[in-house]
Amino acid sequence: GVKIATIGGGSSYTPELMEGFIKRYDELPVREIWLVDIEAGREKVEIVGAMAQRMWDASPYDVKVHITLDREEALRDADFVTTQFRVGLLEARIKDERIPAYYGMLGQETNGAGGMFKAFRTVPIILDIVEDMKRLCPDAWLINFANPSGMVTEAVVRYGKWDKVIGLCNVPVMAQMIEPELLGKQPDELIYKFAGLNHFHWHKVTDAHGKNVTLDIINKMYEGDETGMPKNIHDIPFPREILEQMQMIPCGYHHYYYQEEETLSHALEEYKTVGTRAQQVKQTETELFELYKDPNLDYKPEQLGKRGGAYYSDAACESIASIYANKNTQLVVSTKNDGAVPDLPADCVVEVSAYIGGQGARNVAFGELPVAERGWLQVMKAMELLTIEAAVTGDYDTALQAFTINPLVRSGKTAQRIMDELFIAHKDFLPNF
Ligand code: NAD
Ligand code: G6P
Ligand code: MN
Repeated sequence: GVKIATIGGGSSYTPELMEGFIKRYDELPVREIWLVDIEAGREKVEIVGAMAQRMWDASPYDVKVHITLDREEALRDADFVTTQFRVGLLEARIKDERIPAYYGMLGQETNGAGGMFKAFRTVPIILDIVEDMKRLCPDAWLINFANPSGMVTEAVVRYGKWDKVIGLCNVPVMAQMIEPELLGKQPDELIYKFAGLNHFHWHKVTDAHGKNVTLDIINKMYEGDETGMPKNIHDIPFPREILEQMQMIPCGYHHYYYQEEETLSHALEEYKTVGTRAQQVKQTETELFELYKDPNLDYKPEQLGKRGGAYYSDAACESIASIYANKNTQLVVSTKNDGAVPDLPADCVVEVSAYIGGQGARNVAFGELPVAERGWLQVMKAMELLTIEAAVTGDYDTALQAFTINPLVRSGKTAQRIMDELFIAHKDFLPNF
């Protein structure tokens, strides 16, 4: 049987992960699942862990869910380690989102100033986890969800020197669910090719006969109101000319870049009225944990669909099953480029379509991007590399460089003030600085 260790097990998303494993039990015979958390998340992991055990007890399978604050015990001889932790919990995200917003800039958990600070907090922890894995489960695969997922995966490869890692996101999963519906087709009637970075990728689609249907999907996106956008992103139509020009479909997070003015003003409006996304999500989380406390609840409640990360387990559990059973399923993953995106260095992490099997990801070559998108991509990768370097070295000047080139941070005195305030706000979680 397979041993799974999930770091950040107290996440309200855990029931979704359980559902994904239960669905795939025949190809992935899980024996034990270890939900790891820390003292600050003890109550959460106890509640959601009990709920997870009830889900297995209601299934035909005999699986034990262990709850622990001892990461070593969980990692020992694990086959797969999944990471879904949030350093500083939602309180830290509130700061990431509120402090930039106070100064009129975007506060977002993976983009702009807030996303960079989430990386500063998360990278040191993932590198500790990798060191533990080298000792305790050197053959295991690391399946990362902790955001910013692409940067965290890059840190694992570049600084952790650990290649058995796959970074994941639900955004491509959602696109591949909705778009076939827009065309009145089944998912297996379309062939997808994605390329870019996590929360910064584009894709092209052909039908089963190789005919390019990207423009057909683009046209449908302007007809109905279902575009496959995650719940956390305000959906305003993209400038149609841009999509028609590049003949690719951007991901939802591209709204922040292609329409910075509109998305920023929407975010600032929310900040002043209903609160930031983190504050709203905190409410949802409280409601979810109230439900999870119910000793009769033994299935994933519908309310979890209010979270932006819905369906993430389809990526997580499917990639684990694909590695375990050498299925060679095509998924979209963050992995070492190796030439799939020739506009970026071969040794950096990209988010691309890949076949997932026993040896990990075999990327599908995407080819060169149009000039504008190549420019965006190269700036964004430089920002990511500087952010990760700053996270590892604790170097203030490198952090400031990353801030300065981030397209969502207006450079100058205010940007530096935001950065300094965030350093103070998060000082307990930034041991390297
Ligand atoms: P959350 O605030 O519920 O945090 C999850 C758990 O992590 C908490 O119980 C917390 O106590 C625990 N934790 C914090 N530091 C830890 C540490 N050092 N070791 C072990 N556990 C620790 O978070 P959430 O909203 O459920 O999201 C979890 C993470 O997954 C976040 O990083 C989020 O950005 C990410 N996420 C990613 C995707 C994706 O598409 N890649 C989708 C959903 C969520
Ligand atoms: C999307 C992203 C995730 C992110 C989530 C936020 O689905 O892919 O990476 O964590 O949204 O959702 P939330 O409900 O926490 O705002
Ligand atoms: Mn994501």
